[in-house]
Amino acid sequence: MRGEILMKNIILTGDRPTGRLHIGHYVGSLKQRVELQNAGDYEKMFIMIADTQALTDNFGTPQKVRDNIIEVMLDYLSVGLNPEKVTFFVQSEISALPELTCYYMNLVTLSRLLRNPTIKSEIKDRGFDNENKGIPVGFANYPISQAADITAFKANIVPVGEDQLPMLEQAREIVKSFNGIYKCNTLVMPEPIIPQNKVCSRLPGTDGNSKMSKSLNNCIYLSDDSKTVKEKIQSMYTDPNHIKITDPGKVEGNTVFTYLDAFSTDKHFEKYLPEYHNLEELKEHYRNGGLGDMKIKMFLFNIMEEILQPMREKRKYYEKRIPEVINILKNGTAEANKYADKTLDEVKSAIGINYFSDESFTNEQIEKYDR
Ligand code: TRP
Repeated sequence: MRGEILMKNIILTGDRPTGRLHIGHYVGSLKQRVELQNAGDYEKMFIMIADTQALTDNFGTPQKVRDNIIEVMLDYLSVGLNPEKVTFFVQSEISALPELTCYYMNLVTLSRLLRNPTIKSEIKDRGFDNENKGIPVGFANYPISQAADITAFKANIVPVGEDQLPMLEQAREIVKSFNGIYKCNTLVMPEPIIPQNKVCSRLPGTDGNSKMSKSLNNCIYLSDDSKTVKEKIQSMYTDPNHIKITDPGKVEGNTVFTYLDAFSTDKHFEKYLPEYHNLEELKEHYRNGGLGDMKIKMFLFNIMEEILQPMREKRKYYEKRIPEVINILKNGTAEANKYADKTLDEVKSAIGINYFSDESFTNEQIEKYDR
């Protein structure tokens, strides 16, 4: 019985194809997706490449979006997401999504959209609040379009990073409002799931900056080679006052320790630093002085390599089979379309605008004019 309920889970999530995925994406979301995939408690698991959403703030540089579709697919496949278990698809190919968006737009006010904290900070970051720029309607609207992404597939579980919680809140409001206004239970209420380890949902850049970004050049990418990873770890921000090995060091705000919080396990200590039992002991030694940055950086490097090396191998395999990768995406998109089209039909009939597939429409109109 319990099994039957669990098998009804529909999991959906996605990413904007605006760049290669990095280890922040990995601990913040990809790792959890692989775990969900392997746990198998679902009827369907969808992963969407959100190119339409990426265009809402990259409409002037579409080549960037185009170039990152397969890049992101390779990232997915390299972390161990399995095309036999997951349906991968491209957002812009699902025509039911903009149609659903259109009906949901009536249910949300402009002021509600602009109250979304993630949207607010993104407007600032992108300079849309400058007097000569302005907020593109498509951009402000993307939380509604994201509600369409989620509801089109009747997803009840949406694994996301913390920054996406306001989007899920918006989607939930739309579901409640739609089902209420049209007196139906067509739309399914989605629940977000976020990583349990706090550090994982907001991993800082290697320079200690709270945001990882390509322009800051502070990310370790899943596709970085060993040498690049080593260089990036060697130049990581630690404690600027920890100059001599004997100096006491600070652990808080020390990026290497933040990364160790996110990635290290007691097993890693056993394997690479057996003189310590766990991270607490290592931190204690660092605080007291006598532990050099090089040693903690090498430890982190060993852990990262253990995680990244198998990914590099899988990536190499798929890089030699690009047509196969494109086919995975194409077939997934065809399948996704079936689900979304079905929901669109249900949505239209809930509103009552399914004129040609609804016999009662014909009868109703005959009766009306039969005077
Ligand atoms: N907004 C998400 C991000 O930037 C990507 C996304 C688009 C998404 N549609 C979605 C995530 C639906 C989960 C569900 O990461």
